[in-house]
Amino acid sequence: MNKKMLIGLSFGAGYGSQPGAWRMPWVNPTSFADFDIMVKQAQTAERGKLHFLFLPDGFGTLVDIESVPPMTSLDVMMTLAAVARETKHIGLLATGSTTFNEPYNLARQFKALDVMSHGRAGWNAITSSTNDAAANYGVTIPSSEERYGRAHEAILLIQALWGSWGRNAWIHDQASGKFANKDQILPINLQGKFVGARGPLYIPPSEQGQPIIVHAGGSPNAHQLGGRFADVVIGSAFTIEDARSQRQAFRDAAEGYGRNPDDIKFFAGLMTTITKDRRTALDRRILLTEKEIPQRVAYLQSMLRIPLSIEELGRPLSELQLSNARPSPYDPRSAHALKIAKEGWSLRDIIAHGVIDYHPVIVGSGIEAADHMQAWFEAEAADGFWISTDVYADGIDAFVDEVVPILQERGLFHKEYEGRTLRENLGIQDQYGIDPRIVSTQKY
Ligand SMILES: Cc1cc2nc3c(=O)[nH]c(=O)nc-3n(C[C@H](O)[C@H](O)[C@H](O)COP(=O)(O)O)c2cc1C
Repeated sequence: MNKKMLIGLSFGAGYGSQPGAWRMPWVNPTSFADFDIMVKQAQTAERGKLHFLFLPDGFGTLVDIESVPPMTSLDVMMTLAAVARETKHIGLLATGSTTFNEPYNLARQFKALDVMSHGRAGWNAITSSTNDAAANYGVTIPSSEERYGRAHEAILLIQALWGSWGRNAWIHDQASGKFANKDQILPINLQGKFVGARGPLYIPPSEQGQPIIVHAGGSPNAHQLGGRFADVVIGSAFTIEDARSQRQAFRDAAEGYGRNPDDIKFFAGLMTTITKDRRTALDRRILLTEKEIPQRVAYLQSMLRIPLSIEELGRPLSELQLSNARPSPYDPRSAHALKIAKEGWSLRDIIAHGVIDYHPVIVGSGIEAADHMQAWFEAEAADGFWISTDVYADGIDAFVDEVVPILQERGLFHKEYEGRTLRENLGIQDQYGIDPRIVSTQKY
């Protein structure tokens, strides 16, 4: 196989994916507000030739601010602006809601980041879906129909704005005094049911023309939006079968809009705690998640459908418990949890395997992570992976030093960036303005 896998890194509030990350003795507890630290973490990811950083945004609530930091960075665009100045190759993907932003504002911010980073920006266009997020804008969440109707219009309009400054319009000729060719910088005059703009945008093309489009979501609406516009889909799947069917749904939708299914790259999530061996990794996870263990025991009961008690944390499940256990049909992680339980780990260790986390979790050596990624990639369950490391301070290094070289040796991951721009590095075709193939597909 010549095709190489793609790898991105989830980049949240500066600490890591585990709620206890900020308290680890080797972590600076003010990382959340420290851009020097975030820049250093980004440089580590770039040292590993990772394709992009992915910044989620806009969850709206402070779940447990007394003990758990927020999950997203102070401001995704400012964080990426800081990172752009101190890196050269890594892609910069930020989330921006189509429901709670005016398209013109999104268009200018992302295009400015794209110009500033010399063509490395991507926009994760999501609709926001909770009243928690909506409350910060003084409203309740609009219906799905309205959110996705607006999203389709917003992306079209933003791409039209991006293309409104002609590719060769910027002359900047000091001798003649001609700054730009006015004939090539034209209004767009688009007014839809939900959004509109006159244009033109005042920002010239970047080295990759314009930012790529990303989408994150799994609903049928997400398939349609992603299928129509996305170059990259950030997914969430617990099994190879599930990932394959999600990937296929996006590919089918892309075809329905006249695109080539290979134009859309599906990324499966993966969480990592990488150390020299499984035992060391489990102990690290226990340290990181100590506070959550009682509530996770309670939840594991419902996944395995047997009573469990925190008194039993240090013991493996009994033969009777194992023979009575039945994976819950309501939670796709249950079969895996039972498999781990049957390997004879203690109740505490079962939980430390991350069986209740929100992506598959590797708790162990670099080889275990590489094997997982290879199996999914070769089964065509994903074009790539987005990695959530447990603690950024040393977890990004662990991934870069322990997993990346194995994937490279196996010929599964590139050894150098292919080019300068994000499009070149991800193998995404050139696009400037709206994709002509999708203009006539007015399903919305
Ligand atoms: C992997 C993944 C990442 C997501 N990241 C974000 C995010 O950063 N911000 C956000 O508001 N929603 C995010 N979402 C939520 C989705 O955009 C979407 O709103 C959600 O899946 C609900 O679907 P619906 O809006 O179609 O009902 C994410 C979803 C997935 C699966």
